Amino acid sequence: MLSRLLVLICLGCSAWAGAQTAAPTEKSLEQGSLEDRVKTLASIQPGLGVVMHEIGWRFANTYWAANGGNWGLAQYQLKELLEAQEVAEITRPQRAPMLKANEQTFLAPLAQAIENKDIKLFNRRFKEASNACMGCHTALGYGYIRFKVPRQPPQQFLDFSLKTDPAH
Ligand code: HEC
Repeated sequence: MLSRLLVLICLGCSAWAGAQTAAPTEKSLEQGSLEDRVKTLASIQPGLGVVMHEIGWRFANTYWAANGGNWGLAQYQLKELLEAQEVAEITRPQRAPMLKANEQTFLAPLAQAIENKDIKLFNRRFKEASNACMGCHTALGYGYIRFKVPRQPPQQFLDFSLKTDPAH
């Protein structure tokens, strides 16, 4: 009898302890304090994986636009790529220094080649930038993610061979 009682008490204790360490209140954008709602909002912002997905597409678009002679589109795609990167610099601040270094060393010179409409220089710098993408992936343990230029322009509904000049 006594041992049964002890077992019951112990079960009660662990149930109580479980309740005390229960999961934090449900995440909600509509309910809770302003601080909790801001935290919830922050927790659903795109991380590096989502941003990189966009970066991959835009990087490939940049290549095809420049090589199709649509320099305006190439410039636009690279600019949008860098804007996407800014999101990751905020949501994943520990990655920001590497992203910024990569931008200054490889993407800014690529933008310069676009401005000059110099396809030879562009292709050389694109290759260097592409190797640098791989360098970061390898350094961070994602060596299996290697960017390669697709054989066809990735977004079929964009006209990559429209002849335009950089606009800005
Ligand atoms: C800060 C270092 C860093 C740099 C620089 C970088 N990447 Fe990434 N990339 C990552 C990390 C880390 C992941 C894995 C993301 C994750 O799971 O959080 C990734 C993932 C990816 C993915 C896979 C996304 C998916 O799921 O579809 C692609 C594509 C990609 N990167 C392309 C690029 C390209 C193109 C460049 C260069 C223009 C580049 N990356 C530069 C760190 C980097």
